[in-house]
Amino acid sequence: MSATPSPQPARVTTATIARLFGDGVRIAVLTAYDYPTARILDEAGIPILLVGDSLGQVILGYDSTVRVTMAEMLHHTRAVARGTKRAMVVADMPFLSYGVSPEASLENAGMLMREGGAGAVKLEGGERSGRTIETIVRAGIPVMGHVGLTPQSIYQLGGHRVQGKTRVQGRQLLADALAVQQAGAFAIVLELVPEQLAAAVTERLRIPTIGIGAGAGCAGQVQVVTDLLGLSADFTPKHARHYAELHTIIKSAAEAFAADVAAGSFPGPENSVRMEDSILDEVLGRTALGRAGSSSNNPAAGIPLDRDL
Ligand code: KIV
Repeated sequence: MSATPSPQPARVTTATIARLFGDGVRIAVLTAYDYPTARILDEAGIPILLVGDSLGQVILGYDSTVRVTMAEMLHHTRAVARGTKRAMVVADMPFLSYGVSPEASLENAGMLMREGGAGAVKLEGGERSGRTIETIVRAGIPVMGHVGLTPQSIYQLGGHRVQGKTRVQGRQLLADALAVQQAGAFAIVLELVPEQLAAAVTERLRIPTIGIGAGAGCAGQVQVVTDLLGLSADFTPKHARHYAELHTIIKSAAEAFAADVAAGSFPGPENSVRMEDSILDEVLGRTALGRAGSSSNNPAAGIPLDRDL
C-alpha cells in the first residue's frame, strides 16, 4: 500500500497575519535573499520572509539600497519563493520603482508578484506614499508599509538616524503610520524609532507594526538574516542580536578544507569512487601482470596520456 503524501502546509496570507495579530501572537519576520536560506527559514516556521532591498548591502556589496534594481529584486525574489512552501514572501519595491507614476508602481508591484512569485510587496514612505499604496492594494496586491528610517531616503535624512525623536518628527511619524493603514496596508515596518513612540503607534493601529530598532512594544519584529546569523565580521547594528556566529564557522570550515587539500587528506575514500581494475587495465591497454609491475611495461599500447598529446 502506498503511503499517503503529507498535505502541503497552507501558505501564510494576509488573513493568517491578521489572525495571528488578533490572537496577540508576536510575528517574527526575517529577510531572505536566496533559495537555501529561504528553505531553512521556512522549515523553521518563520511566517514572513522579506526579500529586503538590504540585499544591496548585505549580499551584493553596494553602499546603499538605492543601487538595487528591479531586475535584482526579481532574481532574488524568485529564488526565495522557490525555497518556501508556507511563508509569505514579501518583496521590497526598489528605489524609484514606485511613486513616480501610479502606472509604473502598479506594473512593478505586479511584476514582483507575477514573475517573482511574491505574496506581497513592501514600500517605503508614510503620507507621501499613501496614494501609491492605495493604487496597488486596489489592484489586489497586499502591501506592507515602512516608516521611520526609510533607507531609500538616507541621502535626504542624512544617514541611518533614529527617526521621531522630536515633537515635529514624532507627530509626523504617527501621521505617516496612520496614512499607511488608511491606504490599505496589511502591516507596517517601523524602523529606528524610539521604543515609547513605536509602542504608542502600535496601540493606535489596527494593523500589526513590525519593528526593527523600534523596541519590544511592536506587534512583531524583523531582522536582517545576515545580522541574526553573525555573517559579517565588520558591523552589527545596535538593534541586532547574533543568534549564531556564521562568520567564524564559515571561516574555520574554509581553513580546515584548505588544510586538508594541502595535506592530501581530502577527498578521502568515502568521497571517491572506484572502478574495476580489470576494466581500467583494458582502458590503459595493460595486462594484470603489467599492473602488478609498472604501466610503462607497455608504453605503445592503450590511450595516450595527456602529456603525450
Ligand atoms: O530591506 C530590508 O531588509 C528592510 C528591513 C530592514 C525591514 O527593509
